Amino acid sequence: MRVGVPKESREGERRVALIPDSVGSLTGENLDFAVESGAGEGSGHPDSEYSDAGASVGSADDAWGADVVVKVAVPTTDEIGRLRSGQVLIGHLAPLTSGETTKALANAGVTSFAMESIPRITRAQAMDALSSQANVAGYAATLLAARAAGRFFPMMTTAAGTVAPARVMILGAGVAGLQAIATAKRLGAVVTGFDIRRAAWEQIASLGGRPLELDFIPDAEAEGGYARPLTDEENEKVREALADAAAKQDVIITTAQVPGRRAPILITADAVRNMQPGSVIVDLAGDSGGNCELTQAGETVVENGVKIIAPDNLPSDMAAHASQLYAKNVENLLKLLVGEEGQLNLDFDDEIVAGACLTHDGEIRNERAREAAGVGA
Ligand SMILES: NC(=O)c1ccc[n+]([C@@H]2O[C@H](COP(=O)([O-])OP(=O)(O)OC[C@H]3O[C@@H](n4cnc5c(N)ncnc54)[C@H](O)[C@@H]3O)[C@@H](O)[C@H]2O)c1
Repeated sequence: MRVGVPKESREGERRVALIPDSVGSLTGENLDFAVESGAGEGSGHPDSEYSDAGASVGSADDAWGADVVVKVAVPTTDEIGRLRSGQVLIGHLAPLTSGETTKALANAGVTSFAMESIPRITRAQAMDALSSQANVAGYAATLLAARAAGRFFPMMTTAAGTVAPARVMILGAGVAGLQAIATAKRLGAVVTGFDIRRAAWEQIASLGGRPLELDFIPDAEAEGGYARPLTDEENEKVREALADAAAKQDVIITTAQVPGRRAPILITADAVRNMQPGSVIVDLAGDSGGNCELTQAGETVVENGVKIIAPDNLPSDMAAHASQLYAKNVENLLKLLVGEEGQLNLDFDDEIVAGACLTHDGEIRNERAREAAGVGA
């Protein structure tokens, strides 16, 4: 069976779905590879590395014509138009937010697997692209904030005087938030972390952060370890408490999300106006509406001297390692979908296969994606 690796077409997307190392290790699984020329350039892998790993490097048509096409970014309408019925597509497919993509894939008869829908169970951890890319985003967000803050993160004792360490607060302590806490700590900042799941408080402390324990909110951990959305009243109380804490910070990094919903607003415009001029907010939830009321996705807004930065694709900024980790996730999923002879072997009794499959045989298989696409059961 042939696996195609097209060059990503989304503006600014530098990642690639499979790196040459993954091609090398999957060749032993009776698979062969068609890689579009230039696909790995943005992540530091020239065509020659793919050829050396055993792939044939060719045109976009070669890659898109393969039995299984692997991608990073959500496919465009044109890209879906290249696919034929019965082909398999693996990649980010925005199943809960892009109903149009889901419907187009179903109508095209494509069997698609959404990397966002890999179940968060122990056996699937090595395929969990949400986690691998969130990890990269948390790290990159901290470096971005450190650069934009115009001040040192660590305490510095110099002949010209002693500089106090930066105060950094991370809102949302999931995968991205915990990596941001760890990174800010490594850089020497004084770090506070906040989450509405109590289990996260211990994790914040274990990384050397101070958990902001707003214990007037009951533990908000729901099914699958995810947070439930707070009530309006709870949200209001959280925002008030965070406004006080925000006024004391040099940097705030926000990562709070509830899957498939608008991100909760944690920092209001008034709270921003109370912050010290020169401080910085990096909002990782920009794509889903932002955790700061003033956030504009993909832009930097300045209010009262406070910079609110909402980068739209941080993993792409660290394309080498983001691609390495994503490729490993895809490689592990492919191993699950392919039989010993290199043939497609879809076992829908397998929780991971069933959970990640978005469309098959013209149907939308994922219930929440069906709802998001406005298609009846
Ligand atoms: N394989 C696995 O078992 C596995 C893998 C990854 C994550 N997980 C679990 O899934 C959960 C979420 O992880 P994620 O990083 O993908 O989360 P995410 O990116 O969906 O959300 C980020 C964080 O925001 C928090 N949050 C939501 N609303 C908030 C609010 N109003 N205020 C403050 N914080 C808020 C969430 O609790 C979460 O920690 C965690 O429990 C994590 O341990 C499990």
